[in-house]
Amino acid sequence: MKTLLEVKDLNVSFQENEKEKGKEKENVTAVFGVSFSIREKETLALVGETGCGKSVVAHAIMRLLPLESRVKGTIEFGGKNLLELSEKEMTKLRGKEISIIFQNPSLALNPVYSIGHQLAEPLRIHGQKKKENTSLSKVAGALKRVGFSNPHEYMRYYPSWCSGGMNQRFLIAASTMLNPVLLIADEPSKGLDRNRVAELENELEGLKEKSETSLLLISHDLGFVRRLADRVAVMYAGEIVEISDPSNLFERPLHPYTRGLLNSLPERGFVPIPGSSPPLSSPPEGCRFHPRCPVKEKRCMQERPYLKESNGRAVRCFLCL
Ligand SMILES: Nc1ncnc2c1ncn2[C@@H]1O[C@H](COP(=O)(O)OP(=O)(O)O)[C@@H](O)[C@H]1O
Ligand code: SF4
Ligand SMILES: [Mg+2]
Repeated sequence: MKTLLEVKDLNVSFQENEKEKGKEKENVTAVFGVSFSIREKETLALVGETGCGKSVVAHAIMRLLPLESRVKGTIEFGGKNLLELSEKEMTKLRGKEISIIFQNPSLALNPVYSIGHQLAEPLRIHGQKKKENTSLSKVAGALKRVGFSNPHEYMRYYPSWCSGGMNQRFLIAASTMLNPVLLIADEPSKGLDRNRVAELENELEGLKEKSETSLLLISHDLGFVRRLADRVAVMYAGEIVEISDPSNLFERPLHPYTRGLLNSLPERGFVPIPGSSPPLSSPPEGCRFHPRCPVKEKRCMQERPYLKESNGRAVRCFLCL
């Protein structure tokens, strides 16, 4: 299958605000040399502990990072490097060809507008609201796709009248309104109860089957990822440390961090990884995982391992592959 998105050597850094008087500003490299690709119709999951840089990658692709961030590398999409597009060109792509479902549905929806009004937003932005009737039927179609059998009634609702789960489905409807070729879902299952996670999974499954959309699925929920992803990329402290198909990753993890992450799951014994992630303002020399790695060697503390690839898997560790 053809490659849809290719991220090459992405680096994102921020100048942290002075926290204390007299203290130097710190440079935080949140994403460090990240490379991965997503093929047409593929679901790639990005997993890793909170703060490892997943949302920063998503926002870099959408070009939604704050102005003070410094971004290097390339993000190729449809033959163009997204990082070189003007804001006007990017606005044409956003919501139409590339769309994002943000983490928190209640913050992403505007409380003062009806659901119908908000769902018609992508049509207005992309000049597709020529006739009121066409717009209404498109919004109704999108609501039906996410399981609302009486869409016209829900169009009159406001976000505060609805449950978190319903609002999440409205957001999915809004982000898929114009059939984007790439959908980014940033922690879509966070804060949802078990039933809602199962429903969300069905909605994303349906989307995968019925459309041509590729999905970048960001989640800390490994069960969810295992069921939906075609490939999984594991991030640690701003770097990708392993990329694999889900069955190999979950049954035969290679990187010591991936092994630790899986061992910390309740169903696998709840064994935590000792220590904590390093501060991104001063990551350790060599392999960023070495202070927590149970099998480290001397060179791990001095040299940075590169992402080695073999048989469709990739791993950043001197001892693997
Ligand atoms: N706007 C910002 N300014 C400064 N640092 C930021 C900003 N956004 C993110 N970061 C840094 O990037 C790191 C990764 O953040 P994020 O991508 O949100 O992590 P997660 O993997 O939980 O999605 C954070 O720990 C933080 O240090
Ligand atoms: S490179 Fe060394 S420290 Fe890093 S994960 Fe591999 S063995 Fe552990
Ligand atoms: Mg995040």
